[in-house]
Amino acid sequence: MEPSKEYVFKYKGFYFGVITSVEHIASLEDFEIKDSDIFVATYPKSGTVWTQNIVNLILHEGHRNGTENVENIDRMPWLEYNIKNVDFTTLPSPRTFATHLPYYLVPRDLRNRRGRVIYVSRNPKDVMVSYYHFSKYVSTLENIPDFNLFMERFLAGKVLASSWLDHVAGWYNHAEDFNILFLTYEEMKKDLRSAVLKICKFIGKELNEEEVDSVVRQATFENMRKDPRANYENLPDNVTARDNGTFLRKGTIGDWKNIMTVAQSEKFDKVLKEKIKNLPIKFIWDIHDEM
Ligand code: A3P
Repeated sequence: MEPSKEYVFKYKGFYFGVITSVEHIASLEDFEIKDSDIFVATYPKSGTVWTQNIVNLILHEGHRNGTENVENIDRMPWLEYNIKNVDFTTLPSPRTFATHLPYYLVPRDLRNRRGRVIYVSRNPKDVMVSYYHFSKYVSTLENIPDFNLFMERFLAGKVLASSWLDHVAGWYNHAEDFNILFLTYEEMKKDLRSAVLKICKFIGKELNEEEVDSVVRQATFENMRKDPRANYENLPDNVTARDNGTFLRKGTIGDWKNIMTVAQSEKFDKVLKEKIKNLPIKFIWDIHDEM
């Protein structure tokens, strides 16, 4: 079954939510990149908001010490979903953007190693489960309450942002075109401090010990959940909550085990496991697994 046109449209082989337009997406190819620009790129539900908050905490002292009450989405707007109609050329440097774009639809300059990209991936079972819950929650996504059906759609890439595997494999296979740092949700979860230090190094921002501590403390799931700048409790006007829920739901590794049956897990493995082996990523499927 195809996804409902009420929620998505296809452009160059990729499903976009209807809150953006073909004109805007097409214009991004020529969007001029500055070397100082920083992009957080992900497949949905892989830890975008988390990484967004970490980058903002690293870059902005006022975000870190709480003197500035600016939400993540305003510091780091979405590239292809410019829901607040920001003029990107007026943003202060370093400009930061979040995106779910596949590697082949991002601004041309980025593909010529200008700017910086932080690409975060997450084990696809947790991505799928997180996506399933999220689809029930936000009004901009098609609600598919039957989990089995949702899994079919996800495995067939018939959801917003299309196929998880194509997204991740595309970015990894074209890594050489980009100035890029790869991280996984699981490594961030297991050792947040190391991940923060990797990001600091990559974006060229040196923080002292205390500042790093402060970033790590404020980027934990529990603290982010309480932080209105980080938890998206003030949803943009064109995105509303249709159900009880939150952007920060559980924040764990292995939640898929609470919903997927053995049969579903086996089916999932049949479709994806072999292909995942070809990716240069070691996914963690359980909180107790070693990195
Ligand atoms: P769950 O639904 O499994 O809880 P995205 O921002 O790409 O939409 O990803 C959302 C997922 O990241 C959600 O997963 C959310 O809870 C999780 N997340 C957000 N902030 C987090 C944090 N500080 N620590 C761990 N997980 C976090």
